[in-house]
Amino acid sequence: MRGDVRILLVGEPEVGKTSLIMSLVSEEFPEKVPARAEEITIPADVTPERIPTHIIDYSASEQTDDELQDEINRANVVCVVYDVNKESTIEKIQSKWIPLVNGRTEKGSRIPVILVGNKSDLQGTSSMESILPIMNRFTEIETCVECSAKNLKNISELFFYAQKAVLHPTAPLYNPEDKQLKSSCVQALTRIFNICDRDNDGILSDTEMNFFQKYCFRNPLSPQALEDVKTVVWKNAPDGILDDGLTLSGFLFLNMLFIQRGRHETTWTVLRKFGYDDNLELTDDYLHPQLRVPYDCTTELNHCAYLFLQRVFEKYDADNDGVLSPIELKNLFSVFPYFPWGPEVFNTVCTDKRGWITLHGYLCHWTFTTYLDVHHCLEYLGYLGYTTITEQESQTAALTVTRDKKMDLEKGQTQRNVFLCKVIGPKGTGKTAFLQAFLGRSLETQSEMGGDVSDFTINTVQINSLDKYLIEHYMESRIPCIFVASKSDLQQQKQEHGIGPVEFCYKHRLPAPFHFSCNSDEATNSQIYSRLALAAAFPNLNEAELSISSFWLRITFGATVVAFLGLAIYKALARQK
Ligand code: GTP
Ligand code: MG
Repeated sequence: MRGDVRILLVGEPEVGKTSLIMSLVSEEFPEKVPARAEEITIPADVTPERIPTHIIDYSASEQTDDELQDEINRANVVCVVYDVNKESTIEKIQSKWIPLVNGRTEKGSRIPVILVGNKSDLQGTSSMESILPIMNRFTEIETCVECSAKNLKNISELFFYAQKAVLHPTAPLYNPEDKQLKSSCVQALTRIFNICDRDNDGILSDTEMNFFQKYCFRNPLSPQALEDVKTVVWKNAPDGILDDGLTLSGFLFLNMLFIQRGRHETTWTVLRKFGYDDNLELTDDYLHPQLRVPYDCTTELNHCAYLFLQRVFEKYDADNDGVLSPIELKNLFSVFPYFPWGPEVFNTVCTDKRGWITLHGYLCHWTFTTYLDVHHCLEYLGYLGYTTITEQESQTAALTVTRDKKMDLEKGQTQRNVFLCKVIGPKGTGKTAFLQAFLGRSLETQSEMGGDVSDFTINTVQINSLDKYLIEHYMESRIPCIFVASKSDLQQQKQEHGIGPVEFCYKHRLPAPFHFSCNSDEATNSQIYSRLALAAAFPNLNEAELSISSFWLRITFGATVVAFLGLAIYKALARQK
């Protein structure tokens, strides 16, 4: 919502503009008024919507046309005042005032207008008959109110309507010409419906409706009120109720009803609760809450976040087979404004034989995004309605920022669950195959799996053979390093280098090269991945230390909440081709 509101009063001379403003301020009718009232500011705490509000008078006897145009440009809402007893002042609404206010503006950016019929105390008949055709002709007219500065009738209401027209505009929500919700409004409400439809059956049950109500308006609906709402929908939109629950079309109908009855602040409350701004876009605050990640720290999902994501998966896994078919995945991302995954995702994490993502692969991918692209992770959690479902203040509640790596090295243990391993090697040495083997894919499966090549793979690794391996720091670098001798099923090649790999490793006190082949059985291969994870988890230990203190290491692992370690493998040299 905006920070303040500017209300400008215009209209023919002598209709009572200055009197209306003075009556509001002094709560009595002033017999004598100046031609033009000073600009007044109503402080936030005395306005109904708690927003500071400026009220600006206009008088033709004191201001030029240019000054008037200038004030119109600065206004958020314009009240066109007329005298209910003077037909000529009504006629001028359409011949002069509305064209002056919105004549030059684009359809979408018109300033909302309120028609104000003053001097109702002198009234013979209502002016409504002359006003209605004008309201139908100009869609920017939000509402019309008859009032009296003299009797103090409807004065505060008039300023309340003006304020509301600015803070809860109908224009982005509703098209008065075809009497339909606008498409961006339908889209936003559909996302909200999908988030609240927690079992994904296309219907809001009583429980789900109450959850929605409590989240948006704090108080629950009484059982009677719930029945009343459903009855209203059922009478007016028969497809709005199914199995005693509210369908999406019923939900949209309800919101349209609010708007048509001038209660659009209700719909706005809902939209804002779910993160939308005045243009029906999700706000930056909602999608990208502040999160400080100091240097040498990483980001991981916490237990609550994994539970939430798993529930989302299960919600959209309609046939309950533990994998998301393309349609199920599309439904899952229906609350996103775009499809967040590219085709390489299916070569980044585990899938089933059809290339459909498993729950495990799906959680791995979230881990991966959290680690390497926390900005998008927060955004995606926002689309999924994380704060709504988990009743948290912000998506940052889903994350753990790990402690500084230096601290881990000092203490000789880590609480991290995710490690990044860069795979480096010349062209054609089998880096991609090595990455794919991490997903359990043999060379044969790899050739069958289509899709785009991924520079990353992520999977979990069980650390259970701690006493076997050690990684020393390589050279001055504190990053542990392991040599992988790939294609070990083929005959050994003579290395064209002064010093062979085995000798090199020995010289630098690195563990001997690990022989690896995508064609060998899985058991030996999986060891290399555990070994990499281990190296990442305990970079400060040398081989001797690792074997002696293996008992303590086990204890350390028991103490961290994690059952397995995630490991991301990054193909760094791909760009060097
Ligand atoms: P300009 O500044 O010349 O444009 O006029 P204005 O629109 O500011 O009108 P103003 O407030 O000066 O009022 C014009 C006359 O109408 C004054 O004599 C007011 O006392 C009278 N008047 C204003 N409001 C009412 C009302 O609600 N009822 C009655 N009976 N008279 C009113
Ligand atoms: Mg005046």
